[in-house]
Amino acid sequence: MTISLSLFDIDEIGCVMCNQRNAGIIGVGSAVPEKVLSNADLEKMVDTSDEWIRTMTGISERRMAADGEATSDYATKAAKIAMERAGVKPDSINLIIVATVTGDMQYPATASIVQNALGCKNAAAFDLGAGCSGWVYALAAANGFITSGMYDYVLVIGADLLTRVTNWTDRSTCCLFGDGAGAAVVGPVAEGEGMLGFDLGSDGSGSHVLCIPDGGSRRPLTHETLDAHKDKTHMEGREVFKFAVKIQGEATERLLTRLGMTTQDIDMLIPHQANIRIIDSAVQRLGLPKEKCYINIQRYGNTSAGTIPIALDEAIQEGKVKKGDTIVTVGFGAGLTWASGVMKWVY
Ligand code: UT7
Repeated sequence: MTISLSLFDIDEIGCVMCNQRNAGIIGVGSAVPEKVLSNADLEKMVDTSDEWIRTMTGISERRMAADGEATSDYATKAAKIAMERAGVKPDSINLIIVATVTGDMQYPATASIVQNALGCKNAAAFDLGAGCSGWVYALAAANGFITSGMYDYVLVIGADLLTRVTNWTDRSTCCLFGDGAGAAVVGPVAEGEGMLGFDLGSDGSGSHVLCIPDGGSRRPLTHETLDAHKDKTHMEGREVFKFAVKIQGEATERLLTRLGMTTQDIDMLIPHQANIRIIDSAVQRLGLPKEKCYINIQRYGNTSAGTIPIALDEAIQEGKVKKGDTIVTVGFGAGLTWASGVMKWVY
């Protein structure tokens, strides 16, 4: 869907002068690596089993980027598809936000690399670090930029190559993660459509339970820390699990109540894909029938900021999302952070 932005059209879709226009997703795309790493492959690497992984996490396989590839490659591919579907040209993008914890480099921002690759020469660019909640955080930021009238079109990308920061000797984490990216073009939409609200939060007292401990400003890398895999993901799985089960339902219910809605209004839940048991508990708590929750964890594992936009893209491609539907996205992750968002689907 394209909305041309002559002043006349902007007036038609909302009042820019009084900062009141709506913002919504007008195109979505995703990209994952070709290489598949199956549970059988992992059985050869660590002391685990296909049965344990499937029962405890719901994951059968995940994708893995090839040597030499980087997060920006998948972010760019996903964004190109989203822009094409939205009918928005590179020149029209005002801002690119890449939610990621595995940027191409420590700096500059991966968003700047993506900006160059896409030829979005009129776009500002920054990365957003909120772990697996990052894409929903970025969506909320884009919503603010557009409803305020500051920008018209924002690319919101969630992209991570978690296999690059996986400790392949740690069986409790290495079976969980995968690589991939999803992107959305967010733009001005008609009143009553698009983004309705967000519930974002953080409990920094849990920052140590999911992190890459070394390689930052507190403990720069040394040969010793590299040998001890401190440059890779450390996770206290049980703690994250307990947090996730509690927060996904809470954040969704709180937001729906604020918007004067109930769980009955949800047409499709797109949750962060971290563990099938966490997703099932959210579905149960919200009292949703299973078909109202999109699940693809079995194919991709946890791609961090990528999971929600990849799942959203697949749900759309499979015809499971239609104009006017109420879509709820909800995620949690390193920080510990959480984010839920409610939107009326635009196309
Ligand atoms: O995006 C956010 C990022 N992370 C998450 O969302 C992850 C949240 N946490 C989880 O998904 C779960 O905590 C895990 C799937 C990681 C683990 O499940 P759990 O129910 O918390 O199990 P556990 O860690 O308590 O481990 C149970 C048993 C242990 O053995 P013992 O001590 O009972 O003998 C583990 O050593 O399972 C063992 N185990 C494994 N066994 C086979 C742990 N990993 C594996 C494995 N294969 N890969």
